[in-house]
Amino acid sequence: MTRTAPAADDAGLMLKAAADATNNHYDLTPEIFECFLGEHMKYTCGIYASDDCTLDEAQEAKLEFIANCLGIQGGERVLDIGVGWGALALYLADRYDCQVLGITPSGTQASYTRERARSRDLDDRVQVQQCSVYDFKPDGAFDAVAMVGVIEHMPDHQRAVATAAGALKSGGRLYMSATCYRNDEQFTEFTPRDSSRHVQETIFGFATLRPFSKLVGAVEDAKLSLFRATDLTLHYERTIRDWLEGIANHADRIEELRPGLSAELTRYLETVNTGWGHATKHYALAAVRSRWGLTDVGR
Ligand SMILES: C[S@@+](CC[C@H](N)C(=O)[O-])C[C@H]1O[C@@H](n2cnc3c(N)ncnc32)[C@H](O)[C@@H]1O
Repeated sequence: MTRTAPAADDAGLMLKAAADATNNHYDLTPEIFECFLGEHMKYTCGIYASDDCTLDEAQEAKLEFIANCLGIQGGERVLDIGVGWGALALYLADRYDCQVLGITPSGTQASYTRERARSRDLDDRVQVQQCSVYDFKPDGAFDAVAMVGVIEHMPDHQRAVATAAGALKSGGRLYMSATCYRNDEQFTEFTPRDSSRHVQETIFGFATLRPFSKLVGAVEDAKLSLFRATDLTLHYERTIRDWLEGIANHADRIEELRPGLSAELTRYLETVNTGWGHATKHYALAAVRSRWGLTDVGR
């Protein structure tokens, strides 16, 4: 029997398997994440304005930073790829009256985010679809697309960025932040290590970190114009210290909910914090679907 299009089938299965694998982590009861992520339930780095800044303040500053990168003024249509537990979607709907569509492969996150939207009377502005970026059909009608700490879970980063670009209107903006290896040499050296595999496979089911240049390459391939790149590495180190404190403070409750998990989470977060600056960096980039980028020299 001849198989038709085996490569496409295999690739499709591999992309689905990766998304399903991440659900092992993201379908855990949200109460576990409530123990340490703070009020926004944002599972990516904050931005700390000062030494005494709290986790919640840092996450709010980060949400505002993302809104600024995306050029949000009010009322925009936004796609949040990898919506998590709704931090950005709810913020943009509440503060800026945006219409946000969030997608996630996790059914638990989708229900949780819908419920948060309902309880804040934001369900007319926040919709959530349970699907992978690889199954999402872009319609070229969004003013802004966010990919906040999600590309690490996507085996085909070029296809994911192409989908994001395809969702944008002309002049629409993409924000993407990601943890990256410093360069190809670090990628080759650190990817097979037990500590990396613990984080990427045991904790997340599937994750891969790439050098930042690969993400910039995907943005170029998608014909977007890059207009900002920001190093957030130190902010992530500080965020993780705050999460570790939350886990330590709620270790008993986390143990009740999932025995052994507080130690596993601690090991993974300590591993991540050890690597910053040697092996890994955390960057944010912003790009626009426009031939001229954001340049304005009065043509
Ligand atoms: C680290 S969390 C970040 C969540 C959120 N953006 C935030 O900042 O809190 C990663 C998110 O990526 C989602 N994800 C994983 N694989 C995905 C895929 N193939 N398509 C879309 N989202 C995916 C996960 O379900 C999760 O919501």
